[in-house]
Amino acid sequence: MERLPGFRDFYPEPLPQAEPWSADARQYIFKKWRAAAELSGFREYDGPPLEPLELFTTKSGTEIVGQLYNFTDKGDRQISLRPEMTPTLARMVASRERSYKKPIKWFAIPQLFRYERQQRGRLREHFQFNADIVGEADAAADSELIALLINSLRSFGLTEADFVIRLSSRNAWHDFFVSRGGLPDAEYEFYQIIDKLEREEPAKTAEKLQKIGFDLPSVQEFIDRGEPTVELAGVMGDLQARGLGAYAKIDYQVIRGLAYYTGIVFEAFDRKGEFRAIAGGGRYNNLIKLISAGKVDLPALGFGMGDVVLLELLKARALLPAFGQNLGAFCIIESEDLRLDSLSLVQSLRESGISTEYTLVPAKSDKQFKRAQELGATHTLRLVRKDGGSLEVRIKNLATREETTCEPAAAPCILRAALA
Ligand code: HAM
Repeated sequence: MERLPGFRDFYPEPLPQAEPWSADARQYIFKKWRAAAELSGFREYDGPPLEPLELFTTKSGTEIVGQLYNFTDKGDRQISLRPEMTPTLARMVASRERSYKKPIKWFAIPQLFRYERQQRGRLREHFQFNADIVGEADAAADSELIALLINSLRSFGLTEADFVIRLSSRNAWHDFFVSRGGLPDAEYEFYQIIDKLEREEPAKTAEKLQKIGFDLPSVQEFIDRGEPTVELAGVMGDLQARGLGAYAKIDYQVIRGLAYYTGIVFEAFDRKGEFRAIAGGGRYNNLIKLISAGKVDLPALGFGMGDVVLLELLKARALLPAFGQNLGAFCIIESEDLRLDSLSLVQSLRESGISTEYTLVPAKSDKQFKRAQELGATHTLRLVRKDGGSLEVRIKNLATREETTCEPAAAPCILRAALA
């Protein structure tokens, strides 16, 4: 039976055939994301993968609503798989806001589901690193968040030659929109046209703009001028002070597709422009108020970085390590009358933190040795009964072929030292 289109299987490496995904690569990415978030003082949270449909339909905008995996459950509830994490975070913060000191700095790595047209960099399921700051209106929070985005990408070995954060501002676009006589009802539509500017035919964009009273040349002129707002200039200065200035630039072509953004917005792209956006985010100062029906009013901002484009980019830049099993020891059971004592040895090795394998059923010694090599074990251990009936352990380093002998009780300690 085939898997659903746009979904992935995650096999352990080495993979029998070339596939972009593996369980090891996924784990590697998650570890780096977590480490970067924790280094900047962010705490991990999570929410349910299924939410009431309503959480997503009113707040995120038409684009994402068209991509929902929604259905009616057995209790007649209208529900949906989460297409993004931000509404869930807003709901969670709103309901427990008083229990947490501000600013709240939280991160999550949810699996998200969007019924999108499957294409390069876009699937129907992906994992997304989300980092958000709630309760701080000052642009210092925007800089702190963008610094985390840059640092997390750098932790994979990517440099300023590989990626750039394109910084923009919904405020700047709002001022442009209002100053040219744009009508409030058409504002989100206008943002969506700008959001698609790079991917759409200019003639089509011009036609759409014209319908709501705008023209492409003046939009293009505003983008080309790229005059930073006071806020954006502050963020650039902050990033420069951290030594991260080369990783960001002002670019008003970015506006973000989601409806709830209110201030600074940004997207991370590879410098060569080969891939879709690596990450995107911005301020959403009204979302928590909207979701809590006015009960809680907190400014917020955040970003999401998907695993799909990131992995494509890391592969293309040869920045992924070789994955495989990391086995410390393989216990060879040379004769079945040594099995119970061998199991005791295996248990003591594992208890001391050494990953250990052994044969589940009787097998010839050379077969076991071969298996140890296949699994990438660094050492083999085997119990040997001495003439007086007592046991000793022979530890073999598979790289140097050196063999050490010791008492069974000393084996974990000796092997741990060898592995260190
Ligand atoms: P987004 O731009 O929709 O933002 O998604 C963020 C990132 O998730 C994208 O840049 C991309 O890397 C990845 N992504 C999105 N859709 C797919 C897909 N179908 N397949 C693979 N990767 C995908 C948000 O979701 C916002 N909620 C982010 C945010 C957090 N804003 C504030 N806080």
